[in-house]
Amino acid sequence: MNALDSAWRALRTHAAEAGTWSLRRLFAEDPRRFERFSLVFEDLLLDWSRQLVRPETMRLLSDLARAADLEGWRARMFAGEPVNTTENRAALHVALRHRGPEPILCRGKDVMPEVRGVLARMKAFSDAVRDGRLRGATGLPFRDVVNIGIGGSDLGPQMVCRALAHLARPDLRVHFVSNLDGAHLAPLLARLDPAATLFVVASKTFTTQETMQNAASARAWLAARLGEEAVAQHFVAVSTNEGAVRAFGIDPERSFGFWEWVGGRFSLWSAIGLPIALCVGFDRFEELLEGGYSMDRHFASAPLARNLPAIHGLLAIWNRDLLGFPTRAVLPYDQRLERLPAFLQQLEMESNGKRVRRDGRPVEHPTCPVVWGEVGTNGQHAFFQLLHQGTDVVPCEFIVCAEADHGLPGHHEKLLANVLAQMRALAFGRDEAEARAGLEAAGLSGETLALLSRHRAFPGNRPSTAIVLDRLTPRALGRLIALYEHSVFVQGVIWEIDSFDQWGVELGKELATRLLPAVESGTEPEELDGSTRGLLRHLRSRRRALADG
Ligand code: F6P
Repeated sequence: MNALDSAWRALRTHAAEAGTWSLRRLFAEDPRRFERFSLVFEDLLLDWSRQLVRPETMRLLSDLARAADLEGWRARMFAGEPVNTTENRAALHVALRHRGPEPILCRGKDVMPEVRGVLARMKAFSDAVRDGRLRGATGLPFRDVVNIGIGGSDLGPQMVCRALAHLARPDLRVHFVSNLDGAHLAPLLARLDPAATLFVVASKTFTTQETMQNAASARAWLAARLGEEAVAQHFVAVSTNEGAVRAFGIDPERSFGFWEWVGGRFSLWSAIGLPIALCVGFDRFEELLEGGYSMDRHFASAPLARNLPAIHGLLAIWNRDLLGFPTRAVLPYDQRLERLPAFLQQLEMESNGKRVRRDGRPVEHPTCPVVWGEVGTNGQHAFFQLLHQGTDVVPCEFIVCAEADHGLPGHHEKLLANVLAQMRALAFGRDEAEARAGLEAAGLSGETLALLSRHRAFPGNRPSTAIVLDRLTPRALGRLIALYEHSVFVQGVIWEIDSFDQWGVELGKELATRLLPAVESGTEPEELDGSTRGLLRHLRSRRRALADG
C-alpha cells in the first residue's frame, strides 16, 4: 500500500469514531479548543473550533497532505511548472499579484516584465477615465462602464466591485452583463447614455458565445446612436486573443492582454480586473493584489499545521470524504459580499468538479461538494430551517467583519449577535429536555408540551467555520480570495485531479452550436433524440402562434 492509500486508511479508521463525537463534549473536555483550532494571519481569523475534529484529526489530515505531495505540487505551481497537466500549462495567477523583486519563470522566461507592463497600462487608462481626461466621442466624460464577460471574466471582477462599492465614486457606475439572454443587456442599455458609456469586452478566448453576442449587440446599439467611428472610443477589450480583438474593431491601444497561464476563474488579478481599477481606482486594485500576495507568501512558506489555505482545504476534504457531507454553504454576513457564493461556485466547482485523476484513472473519493450560499441575515429567513433541523448536515462557512463601513448605528452589533447565534445554535443545538424546560416555563403541559418539545429541539453538532476580517479593505479581500484559491488547489492535489482545466463545459457548448441551425430554421433533424425533437416541435409551434398573435 502506498503512503497516500495508508494516509486515507488511517483517516477512515479515525473517522469511524467521529459519529460518537459531540461538539458540546469536545468543548467541555478542552477549555483551550478555540485557541487550538483557530489562527490569525494579519487581519484575518480562521476559526475551525466548531468543526468535528480532534487534534489527531488535524495530524492525520496533515499526513494526508504530505502523502499527496502537497508541498511538492505547491512548489511546482509557484515555479511555473505545467501543473495544469491536461492542457500542459502553468497556473501562475500568483505572478499577477507578485510584488517582490524576484523573477517568476514560466517555461524559462520571467513573466514579470509583461505583468508589470500591463499593470502600468491599466493604471494609465483607469486614471485617465476616472479623472475625465479620456472621454467619449462627443467629449462627455464616462459615467457608466459596462463589463461584458461571463464566468471568470465576470464573476471575479463583479464580486470585488460589489465588495468594495463603499470605496467607489458615485459618478462612475460599473455594470456587469454576462447572460446570453438579451433580458440582461436590453434593460441596461435602455437606461444608459451612449455618449457617456464605456464598454469593456472581457474574454480570455474572445470566442465565448455569450460575450460575443452581447458585445455585438452593444456595438450595434452604440454605432446606431453615435456612428460607427465612435466605437473605437467607447470599446476596450481584455483578452489573450489579439487577432480576434482586432477583428472586432478594437484598437490594440485599447486592448489589455493576459496570458494562457491565467485560468479564467483565477483571472481577476489580471487585466480582467480592469473594471475594479475603474470602479475603486488603481491604487486600491494594487492593494487587492498586495493582499493576495501576502496570502501567497503565507501559503508558500507556513508549515502545513499552521497554513491557512492548507487547513481550510483539508477541512473541506474531512467534511466531504470522511464525514460524507455532500454540500457546503458559504454564508457571508456582509451585504457587500453578496456575490461571493456565486464566485466560489465557479472557483470550486469548475476547478474540482472532476471524476478522472491527472493520470486518467477514475478518482477514488468523492470530489467537490456542491457549494452554495447567500448573505446573512437573509438566509436565516429562507433556508436556515434546513441547516438547523433538516435531515442532511451542511457544513457552513460564516464570513464577517469586526467593523462595518456604512456608518449606520445599531446595525453591526445586531449583525454580529446574529452570526454568533447561528454558529452556536448549529454547533450546540438545544436538546429535547432543554426545549421542554423552556416550554414548561412558558406554561405548556401535557401532550402539547411533549409534541412541541420534539419540534423545538435542535440536534446541534453541525460543523461550521468562521472567517473574521477586521474590515472589508482591498487588502483583506485580496487575502480572503487567495485563501480560497489556494484551498481549492489543496483539495485538488489531495484528490489527484487537475484543478485548472474545465473539460466538463465543452459538450454543452458543442451541442448548442449544432442545435442553433435547427432552432433558427424550425426543423427537427432526424438524427436528434425524441426528446429534443419534441421540444423543438413545441417551440416552433408556440413561437409561430405567438408571432401570428
Ligand atoms: O465556462 C467555461 C469558461 O471557459 C470559464 O472557465 C471561463 O471563465 C468562461 O468560460 C469565460 O471564458 P472567456 O473568458 O474565454 O470568455
